[in-house]
Amino acid sequence: MNYQALYEQSIANPESFWEEQARKIDWFSFPESILSKDQNGLYRWYRGGKLNTSYLALDYHVLNGRGDQLALCYDSPVTNTKKNYSYKELLEAVSLFAGVLKAKGIQKGDSVIIYLPMIPEAIIAMLACARLGAVHSVVFGGFAPNELAIRIDDAKPKILLTASGGMEINRVIDYKKIVDEGLEMASHQVDTVILFQRDFIQAPMQEGRDLDWKELLKSAEPASYVPVDSTDPLYILYTSGTTGKPKGVVRDNGGHAVSMKFSMDNIYDAHEGEVFWAASDIGWVVGHSYIVYAPLIQGCTSILYEGKPIKTPDAGAFWRVIEEYKVNVMFTAPTAFRAIKKEDPEGKLKSQYDTSALKYQFLAGERCDVNTLEWLQDLLGIPVIDHWWQTESGWPMLSNMPGIELLPVKPGSSARAVCGYDIQILDLNGQRLEANQEGVLAIKLPLAPGCLPNLWNDTDRFIDSYLNPYPGYYFTGDGGYIDEDGYFFITGRIDDIINVAGHRLSTASMEEVVASHPSVAECAVVGIEDALKGQIPVGFVVLKTGVNTLDHELIQKELIQMVRKAIGPVASFKKVLIAERLPKTRSGKILRKIMRAIADRKDFTPPSTIEDMSVLGELEKIIFS
Ligand code: COA
Ligand code: AMP
Repeated sequence: MNYQALYEQSIANPESFWEEQARKIDWFSFPESILSKDQNGLYRWYRGGKLNTSYLALDYHVLNGRGDQLALCYDSPVTNTKKNYSYKELLEAVSLFAGVLKAKGIQKGDSVIIYLPMIPEAIIAMLACARLGAVHSVVFGGFAPNELAIRIDDAKPKILLTASGGMEINRVIDYKKIVDEGLEMASHQVDTVILFQRDFIQAPMQEGRDLDWKELLKSAEPASYVPVDSTDPLYILYTSGTTGKPKGVVRDNGGHAVSMKFSMDNIYDAHEGEVFWAASDIGWVVGHSYIVYAPLIQGCTSILYEGKPIKTPDAGAFWRVIEEYKVNVMFTAPTAFRAIKKEDPEGKLKSQYDTSALKYQFLAGERCDVNTLEWLQDLLGIPVIDHWWQTESGWPMLSNMPGIELLPVKPGSSARAVCGYDIQILDLNGQRLEANQEGVLAIKLPLAPGCLPNLWNDTDRFIDSYLNPYPGYYFTGDGGYIDEDGYFFITGRIDDIINVAGHRLSTASMEEVVASHPSVAECAVVGIEDALKGQIPVGFVVLKTGVNTLDHELIQKELIQMVRKAIGPVASFKKVLIAERLPKTRSGKILRKIMRAIADRKDFTPPSTIEDMSVLGELEKIIFS
């Protein structure tokens, strides 16, 4: 069957389509209904089904004779360590750690925060939670204690899992200190912190609360999988929204497992026994879906890479990993290749490695510029596939689907709608736009299985953020257009979310921090274009009357430090410009979009409601002086 036929079938008959896909995973009991609505009127997939995601990712393969196949290859150039796990070994490790959690009282439905670097224990912990039916919430290591505290207070975990440290190229990150500070800031307290001590940094333990990971394993009894309902939550993953408070995206077990399997078969064309590498971090959705769950559910070998595209040790690092593990399908953010291209523009390092196993290179997480895509296409000589999705969807919504049919690649486009997604371009009044007209991407309900059914304990926010803007549709927050061949082009977020080096961040949360400085009268943080990171945040501040100009430099430094301390280094907030005033409408609304356009040297039409046009010239001077 070709792409178009399968796509049409998925939209015309979603229930029979997704019933057929559901039959491809090993349920303990098959769902009673394929699509239904819950008590809040929200769509739910596969009600009444029983399964266990950890069983699907591990036991299933061992029971089917693939216990000796490699499941996970850990490669850490930053610590000079490599370790491989067969499916049998990974199952043993996960069962044992599940036993540790069970002995500490973790049961189905309990939540567990995981704040760990890119080490096998992070994956073992996720799968151990899934095994017990507990709900994990992984927090990315680049976030500051305050961000960790916000997530602790929202997820209300019983246990927090962490390590003594992480390694950023050659700089040690003290994870335990961040955890201790985060717990001090949080109102909710955990009963237990389980700490994995790494060789290069020993963390202090708090008596009565902290327990040593390796010690606990010594006396642990392996725990078996607990059947859960299809609609039970597998995990919560917090992501930036348009306010300072992150959104707790919930993923259920059944829809997720089916979508992971479907995407490996039909999008990534990655099959049992093949090697899949997502060079991301387990703290992001890409890591959840394509380092952990999808490759393992599919019976692939997954690579866990604790390193960077450059400097660990050089811009040939990715090619080395592809050669060494014979990677068949790879996925990363365009930023990673922009970094490689900057250091090795002619791709000389690539010629030192045999990358012939690689079938496809997938890119997502941010807009991929045509230059980088074409550079990569020339270098690799294989399809380079830009695809689009979000934490909320958990898997691609726009993509070429080479597992069914490889369509021609159009640089700059994330290709066509993935089966199950009826994606439309709407104007501000919710009317469908013609080809090549730019509008908002909205998805006709129901969303495909695997997409968020709700936000964690916040149905009102879920409905408000995603369903109310366009009744009958899911609002994506992205703008774009479709060309005459049905290819989508994403033009960027239409809200205050930015993408910095493939990391999703909220400018509103940075503004909250900047505004709290005693010398700041008003401020705006906007994401402007950056050749390496795609976007970077820039703060524009108006200082209170009477602040000495001699203090400007100090205030700029303080603001940068404040954002780093409150949100984390991942915010990459490194530039603050001091302005006399900000462009506003007569009603006082700051014109952030125009500020961005000026900084990016893009054309714009100032609204007729602008308070004073001359401020635009002033701003241009500040930005480019
Ligand atoms: N733990 C602690 N700190 C972290 C971290 C982690 N897991 N990840 C990043 N940071 C820190 C970095 O050390 C850096 O700190 P600094 O300001 O003190 O130097 C800061 O957060 C910003 O990191 P980053 O945006 O990654 O910039 P960088 O200059 O360190 O690296 C790239 C640039 C391109 C090499 C890097 O961004 C990269 O590899 N990107 C790939 C994108 C990716 O994996 N995206 C995930 C979605 S697919
Ligand atoms: P995240 O939830 O962190 O995965 O970020 C999702 C956001 O990243 C989307 O809403 C888009 O704005 C952006 N994004 C992801 N993939 C792409 C892509 N291929 N092209 C353009 N933007 C993308």
